[in-house]
Amino acid sequence: MTGASSGIGAEFVRKLAARGHGIVMVGRRRERLDAVAHEVRQRYGVDVDVQIADLSDEEQLERLEKLIEERGPLDYLVNNAGFGTTGRFASIERAKQLAMLRVHVEASVRLTHAALPAMTKAGSGAIINVSSIAGFIRSPGNTLYCATKAFLNSFSESLALEVRRHGVRVQALCPGYTVTDFHDREDFADWRRDSVPRWMWMTASDVVDISLKKLARGEVVCVAGLRYRLLAVFLRSRLLFRVLRPFVRRRASTMDKDR
Ligand SMILES: NC(=O)c1ccc[n+]([C@@H]2O[C@H](COP(=O)([O-])OP(=O)(O)OC[C@H]3O[C@@H](n4cnc5c(N)ncnc54)[C@H](OP(=O)(O)O)[C@@H]3O)[C@@H](O)[C@H]2O)c1
Repeated sequence: MTGASSGIGAEFVRKLAARGHGIVMVGRRRERLDAVAHEVRQRYGVDVDVQIADLSDEEQLERLEKLIEERGPLDYLVNNAGFGTTGRFASIERAKQLAMLRVHVEASVRLTHAALPAMTKAGSGAIINVSSIAGFIRSPGNTLYCATKAFLNSFSESLALEVRRHGVRVQALCPGYTVTDFHDREDFADWRRDSVPRWMWMTASDVVDISLKKLARGEVVCVAGLRYRLLAVFLRSRLLFRVLRPFVRRRASTMDKDR
């Protein structure tokens, strides 16, 4: 479980531990990881291994790949770690963009590659790539975030077709606005949560319940919540793009003037 220290990842830990699964939790914030680990050990009596790792770091990613390869078949691999940025692509420092590419794309691909051989041999297991409704959107100010999440959707859909006959399920989980630490991070210091209507917010617990329910039904692209499912239908048909194109262009030109 990557990104297990808070939000959606921590909820996956709780729900999978409640089903009796042992968990390997990955993240950078030791205190937060230890607190969740302590909670689920106490409550569910499962084995929890905490791995402190920055997924944007080559050596630490390599260590996790080896750990997965040596561990044998996983019941679940959840590639959940992620973060957002705000602002135009060209104005965000390159190191941060490359870190996003690494955490969202490279880490998910490499950990999946490390886990799959044992899973297909065992004929079981599931890989959940935590994507976003942003994977269906083209949005100025979110260029790389949208692109990396679109990658996860495409990657998951093709991979699901490859591995289904080996008994392995793959899901791209696409949440909308979810109350977690995501928008409390430094990059969102000037952003206000109440700029988004309340009805658009979901809890991490609901998102994870939906993910696990849809996984059992074999749904590969899982958009969490009815409002976002309806939105996704529009977005996938590209109808909404046409309707919203003037608004998106206006927003992009406002960002240009703001520079
Ligand atoms: N919240 C939303 O509105 C929303 C909507 C759609 C999709 N999502 C996606 O949901 C996923 C989980 O985010 P969240 O909403 O639960 O936010 P969150 O509470 O901030 O959790 C993000 C997790 O990713 C980990 N992480 C970030 N960068 C990392 C790195 N370099 N190395 C290792 N771990 C790293 C964080 O752990 P540490 O800080 O401890 O390293 C944390 O556990 C993300 O992929 C995000 O894109 C969120």
